[in-house]
Amino acid sequence: MKLKLGFVQTNPSFGNKEKNVEEAINLSRKIGGDLMVFPELFNTGYAFISKKEIDYLAEEVPDGYTTIKLMEHSREANKTIVAGLAERFNDKIFNSAVVVSNGQFIGVYRKVHLFYKEKLWFSVGNIGFRVFDLGHFKLGVMICFDWFFPESARVLALEGADVIAHPSNLVLPGLCQKAMLIRSLENKVFIITANRTGTEFRGGERFNYIGRSQITSPSMKVLASAEEDEVIAKVVDVDISEARDKNITKFNHAIQDRKVEFYGKLVMP
Ligand code: ACM
Repeated sequence: MKLKLGFVQTNPSFGNKEKNVEEAINLSRKIGGDLMVFPELFNTGYAFISKKEIDYLAEEVPDGYTTIKLMEHSREANKTIVAGLAERFNDKIFNSAVVVSNGQFIGVYRKVHLFYKEKLWFSVGNIGFRVFDLGHFKLGVMICFDWFFPESARVLALEGADVIAHPSNLVLPGLCQKAMLIRSLENKVFIITANRTGTEFRGGERFNYIGRSQITSPSMKVLASAEEDEVIAKVVDVDISEARDKNITKFNHAIQDRKVEFYGKLVMP
């Protein structure tokens, strides 16, 4: 099964939701693609400075402004989109990513590993790692700092993900991009890291986002990448069957060769 995987790398202007959503959708519209991944918190920007601010900018899913716009675009362009936003659910706010496809709301992932001051604004994701069956392929989702914990990608691969969408707002230079090559190889999956670029100076702190979005393959290749400061969308053709073949050699299999009887510590607190 051939598929066009892509990312949109933007430079959101803080709080300027309509402009940010329109820019990302325009980039996606121009480039095409079957699956497009947008950055983490792509509609609002990242560096919140108060509970009041995030409460104002967070949205219900799927009935909020951003998810509705994404659904419209996915219908008109006949594609699947994964995009990060602040989600209000009951009395909690989550750092979430929505999945929409051909005009339908497919589901949401709520970030599990919160980074730095996200711990002040967001609740820890309460629904675990999720894999969505899109017919032609299975899609796992994780968000930015989830990359630091190899268990995130591993659980998604064990749940059957062929492709992992990874909306991000990376700030630690160059580390994640290298790690994702290994995550792709060891799990034999495609990974789309859609990062943002630009700088935010808020609450006395400066956040430099490192761009360099990329798509990596099960054979540890970088199939597409962006520069640090580009606002750009890219797509690449892949064959999903590459992610279904988990053989390493004639005698080795990436999943079946695990020796889980020796891994007990991995699931201990
Ligand atoms: C991050 O998780 N946004 C670094």
